[in-house]
Amino acid sequence: MSSTTISSEIGSNPGRIQARKFKVDFSPEKLERIWIEDDPFLTAWLNAYTMTIPDGESLIVRTLRYYLDDLDSPHLRNEVLGLVGQELTHSQGHRKFLQLLRDKGYQVDRLFKFVHFLNTKILEPTSVPITRLAFVVGIERINELIAEISLRSGKLSSAPPEARILYEWHFAEEIEHKSVAFDLYKAISGNKVILTYGIAMCYLFNLTYLVWFTATFLWQDRRFFSLKTWKRAFGYFFLEEKFLLRVTQGCLQVFKSGFHPSQTQNGDLAQHILSHREITVETVGMVQT
Ligand SMILES: [Fe+2]
Ligand SMILES: [Fe+2]
Repeated sequence: MSSTTISSEIGSNPGRIQARKFKVDFSPEKLERIWIEDDPFLTAWLNAYTMTIPDGESLIVRTLRYYLDDLDSPHLRNEVLGLVGQELTHSQGHRKFLQLLRDKGYQVDRLFKFVHFLNTKILEPTSVPITRLAFVVGIERINELIAEISLRSGKLSSAPPEARILYEWHFAEEIEHKSVAFDLYKAISGNKVILTYGIAMCYLFNLTYLVWFTATFLWQDRRFFSLKTWKRAFGYFFLEEKFLLRVTQGCLQVFKSGFHPSQTQNGDLAQHILSHREITVETVGMVQT
């Protein structure tokens, strides 16, 4: 299926999940280097999250496109098209934010290219489509959990508008489309062994990338050897946000019998943002990966 065909399908998708366009002025002078709550760790962590998005979301889009023609259910097809549209706009938004980080002087390209090589030349070609779909279920689950942790903490409300809109909008849509990849996986295969492998790999790689990128940003901000920063990191992982416990538990929940992502009570977080933020709902016309 060509990009043009998918593009027009996304544009005319009548489904529940729609890609939204948003306009944010990403000018470097509007963003301090430490842009959230005078918190160098959380700033570096969210910058690191942006670094993981372009590759992760491109993998999601390529994988979903592969299965699109096999779908008989018009409802699931519309959901998948909506997810593809949302991931494309997330990728575009974070690429712009990444450029802003470059403009602010961060040196990220060598690391970014190395990880891109690892993802696209080694991990992806050595896996089969159903394994990639299991990775995608893992990426979507982890994205949903990071979204829930970030939105529940309320910390983004103190971020400058251009960063706040990007992250809140992205996190809200991750919660909104949290079930789609899981439903697609169940419709295509449902094999639990492959799903376990996909989620475990995704957990390991995602967390490794996040910690590695965060350390890179902290190093470049000359905060790497700050005790205060690492106390905050410890708090983020184990005490305040309890990131490690919540993400680990959230991934393990997928293997409980009868699990479905819709059982997680976090829809209120997404609805609050999607109905209150100034995000115009427009269909996306261009599709690029
Ligand atoms: Fe996304
Ligand atoms: Fe997603």
